[in-house]
Amino acid sequence: MKPHLIILGAPGSGKGTQAAKLVEKGFKHISTGDLLRSEIAKGSELGQKVSGIISRGDLVDDNTVMALLKANCDVDKVSYIFDGFPRNIAQAEMLEAELLQKKKTLAVYFKIDLGVLINRVVNRRTCGSCGEIYNLTTKPPRVADVCDRCGSVGTIKQRKDDTQEVVANRLKIFADTVEPMLAFYRSKGALVEIDASMQEKVVFSELGKVIN
Ligand code: AP5
Ligand code: MG
Repeated sequence: MKPHLIILGAPGSGKGTQAAKLVEKGFKHISTGDLLRSEIAKGSELGQKVSGIISRGDLVDDNTVMALLKANCDVDKVSYIFDGFPRNIAQAEMLEAELLQKKKTLAVYFKIDLGVLINRVVNRRTCGSCGEIYNLTTKPPRVADVCDRCGSVGTIKQRKDDTQEVVANRLKIFADTVEPMLAFYRSKGALVEIDASMQEKVVFSELGKVIN
């Protein structure tokens, strides 16, 4: 079995974009952001509890997200790409103690100057039907309002937390929490860094080298 991959990176660094492509290499993609947004869309009790937190760009509490993650993956059967988890050192420790234990794991840090990310994120659009990720300036759908991947019409939308003000808060939280996580994986010899400012396909090719 391949190692489980943990993608660490700021909002807009390309975690979701690359994780979706890595599925072709036999990994299963799990994004805590996607799981939480799906609870909000369903209007579940959990969705109602987290909706305001996500709209402000704050973090949902560690135990809630850990429970959601555990309920949605079986790490014995397939290698996962963890996208958006862990978010802080407490989550990194929980992930190891409660889920991955001694399993082979590689953390990949998508390193990028945070200054370029607000533009990337406010221009992001996502297909609500299949999850395909677009960018109005660098990767628009071929036909406006029609998803290239699933063909749905009118489903390409902006995330509520992708406004300039909320992205600034999300980036600040990232900057305040990332270093202890990097130190945690570095001390285990399980951290690699990739320059996430390169073109999408170049980042993907670098990831391929790291996995092999
Ligand atoms: P989450 O959904 O995880 O959001 P995030 O971490 O802020 O990351 P994003 O999804 O915004 O960015 P991304 O790195 O996936 O970039 P993407 O590939 O889309 O979390 C949302 C919220 O949920 C959190 O704020 C929090 O409230 C809550 N939450 C989630 N997990 C939690 C946890 N563990 N604990 C507590 N709370 C949690 O790309 C972005 C844009 O850039 C796209 O337009 C794309 O086309 C473009 N792009 C991608 N790659 C490139 C490239 N190489 N060059 C140019 N453009 C590119
Ligand atoms: Mg994402």
